[in-house]
Amino acid sequence: MIQRKLEVRYLPFDRTTRVPPGTTLFSAAHWIGLPIDSTCGGRGTCGKCKVRVTEGRADAETADHRLLRPAEIDEGWRLSCQARIYEDITCEVPQLLRVPKAATMGLGRLVILDPNVRKVYLELAEPTLEDQRSDALRLKEALTEEGHDMVAGVPVLRTLPSVLRESGFRVTAVLAGEHLVAIEPGDTTGDCFGVAFDVGTTTLVGTLMNLRTGMAASVLSTLNGQAPFGADVISRISHGMNGPDSIRELQNAVVSTMNGILASLYRETGVSPERTYEAVAVGNATMLHLLFGIDPSPLAVMPFTPAFMEPLSVLASDVGLEIHPRGYIQTLPALGAYVGADIVAGVLATGIVREDKMRVFVDVGTNGEIVLGNAQRALATAAPAGPAFEGSQIRCGMRATDGAIEGVQLGDTVELQVIGGDVPPEGICGSGLVDAVAQLLLAGLIDYSGRMKTADDVPGHPLRDRLIDVDGIRAFLLADGVYLTQKDIRELQFAKGSIATGIKVLMDILGIETKDLDEVLLGGSFGSYLNPESAKIIGLVPPVDVDRIIAVGNSAGEGAKIALLSYRERQVAFELPGRIEYVELSGRTDFNDAFVSVLGFPHLELVG
Ligand code: FES
Repeated sequence: MIQRKLEVRYLPFDRTTRVPPGTTLFSAAHWIGLPIDSTCGGRGTCGKCKVRVTEGRADAETADHRLLRPAEIDEGWRLSCQARIYEDITCEVPQLLRVPKAATMGLGRLVILDPNVRKVYLELAEPTLEDQRSDALRLKEALTEEGHDMVAGVPVLRTLPSVLRESGFRVTAVLAGEHLVAIEPGDTTGDCFGVAFDVGTTTLVGTLMNLRTGMAASVLSTLNGQAPFGADVISRISHGMNGPDSIRELQNAVVSTMNGILASLYRETGVSPERTYEAVAVGNATMLHLLFGIDPSPLAVMPFTPAFMEPLSVLASDVGLEIHPRGYIQTLPALGAYVGADIVAGVLATGIVREDKMRVFVDVGTNGEIVLGNAQRALATAAPAGPAFEGSQIRCGMRATDGAIEGVQLGDTVELQVIGGDVPPEGICGSGLVDAVAQLLLAGLIDYSGRMKTADDVPGHPLRDRLIDVDGIRAFLLADGVYLTQKDIRELQFAKGSIATGIKVLMDILGIETKDLDEVLLGGSFGSYLNPESAKIIGLVPPVDVDRIIAVGNSAGEGAKIALLSYRERQVAFELPGRIEYVELSGRTDFNDAFVSVLGFPHLELVG
């Protein structure tokens, strides 16, 4: 069932957006990039986010009564972070009093620097016989004056009396949301870091971010330590099925990889773990389950139900992640069992669901995760592509490492681009496979059904000698010992057919055609290496102009960084599952019909 969206209009900008019922006026403004003043990031404590509701109704909440004058409430002023939208609303937004610090991230997204972790320097009044407030209350009241809420657990309370007294009651409070993470002597506000992790099945990327400046201090990527348990999520899940010890083994492997990255980042930058207060981690559902030691096996069997899809906030020490022991690991939500937090991060980084442009975002891998839509409506799905794009089940396939052919150009001769530069080609990786098949189509050496021609079929063709026979199977010789077989082409057809079908099903549901698509965004590391022209020629993506097919790089990592730097953006990510409709492809009859229709290659005149 699709929820009816409600319309909100912001004056004096005259900007309108449509949101699901229950969204706050603050979040809805953020969706369309309208800055509303705030220092508490929407927690209802700073009182800076007030707007005046001029049409429609928004009831005054407890925080309104606490922070606004009764006359203001009567005039329609409301804290926009508390005012939930249950009918169409028009409101006036006062001019910003300060220009917020912002950075451009992701796909040209202007992100206002407003991290969840805040440091507040306080000079507290020392206790006297006349003022015997507890240490915790003294601190809490000082923070309230600055517009912050505070909840302190026992571990931090243990440190409070000595730190306050040793520092002469001049301290820096470190808050993650409302949680008091630490109390540090003196003014340490200049020293505040967090880390963004993209936990990929193959590769992990960690970026240490300076939360004060919004700049990356350093970034590092390394192979996932779970690799010995299998290359893809299914083999990791299978290993986990051996019992709790195996799940622990997988958890330890990923946590030690993360800690290894952290150790190098700390070494390189001189930043200490005690000054790194938060980690935002994104990844597919299996990776996040294993990060927390949660059994992922139900993800692999019908009806594919994860243990959790909600965003989690977990003490770093519970997982053994080496940041501040009272710091937190925050994840983003998932949209479905196979459209995980990495895709939500990608949506955040590309801004798909907040702009009017109609775009499709495709993360090509063993699964093709697809998000299609714009600010009005968006859909997501996962199409099972199989391992062809990873170079598996391809006769001479290999991962994208040194010696892999990653680009192919056919003319009178064969030109190859090999990873590692001047090394002999050893095999072909996913992007090379896509390129090779596109070039064979262009050269007329395979037909639209995917059938490879024989040398006899193409007399006089400059490359006819390359059409060979390998164990009775037709093949094209790319280099000494490296060739592409008819079977490989079929594997690619299935893989690209599945993703193309996923896109088509979503386009049909939205009732749009290729001409309505403004852009095709290719995410993930594979998307960065894929030649857009070739992707279009083989029919992996809809045939839009090639300059509208854009590789968006590590959009998952960018999204994690954005969520680390901006509490408001994080809220936007939390709301994405309510804004994007998840479409399950298995069991849809239109999937099978469409799949058959896109298995062949598009006629070249159709792709331009
Ligand atoms: S009260 Fe701070 S943003 Fe609403």
